[in-house]
Amino acid sequence: MIVTLDGPAGSGKSSAAQGLADRLGWLHLNTGAMYRAVTLAALRRGIDLADATALAALAGSPGLEFKPGVVRIDGVDPGKDLRGAAVNEAIKAVADCPAVRGALVLRQRLLAEGIDLVTEGRDQGTVVFPAAELKVYLTASREVRARRRFAEEAARRPGITLADILAEQDRRDADDRGRQHGALRVPADAVEVDTDRLTCAGVVDTLVGLVASRRSAGGVA
Ligand code: DC
Repeated sequence: MIVTLDGPAGSGKSSAAQGLADRLGWLHLNTGAMYRAVTLAALRRGIDLADATALAALAGSPGLEFKPGVVRIDGVDPGKDLRGAAVNEAIKAVADCPAVRGALVLRQRLLAEGIDLVTEGRDQGTVVFPAAELKVYLTASREVRARRRFAEEAARRPGITLADILAEQDRRDADDRGRQHGALRVPADAVEVDTDRLTCAGVVDTLVGLVASRRSAGGVA
């Protein structure tokens, strides 16, 4: 069975997806980490971010290893570099590139073959797994998302303000919603879960309940 979890930055997708996968004993695929790895590898190799052919070749190359819970570049876990400022600044060019998206969509579908998977991103329910048994769209208000991110980042970015975080978030939202291919949208048949008033454990409980009812309705063991 495949459960897709889409939503904007700060909606709590990653913790929810990991928590749900842990509760079910399934695997968790973080597709944002795949776009981040292509971006980081392109920066390290000096690839021109306007060169779609080179970027797509990189995205499909065996030097980038992707498995649920695993990202390696040339055999090495990139660690916190994956979430560093250089990647954040360059990722739009990579995520906007249709040829990169094509290569990663293919890899995501191959990874999901024959397993139970919780997969999170922006286009998982709309583009990558349109026939997923359960599609969830996580939402949270602009302010709540920014406050969560501020709490996470204040310690490692001295001087950062909530207003800075809000501005960054607005830019990312516009990028994610405005891209021509794979834009962030609510899948037509998704269940929307508003996480404003839920703890992470509360979100996971809600998702576990949705999976259970979908399995009993569909007769899935
Ligand atoms: O989830 P994240 O913030 O780590 O994602 C990093 C970037 O990758 C984000 O700007 C949007 C993009 N992305 C995407 O275009 N499609 C996905 N399925 C996942 C992420």
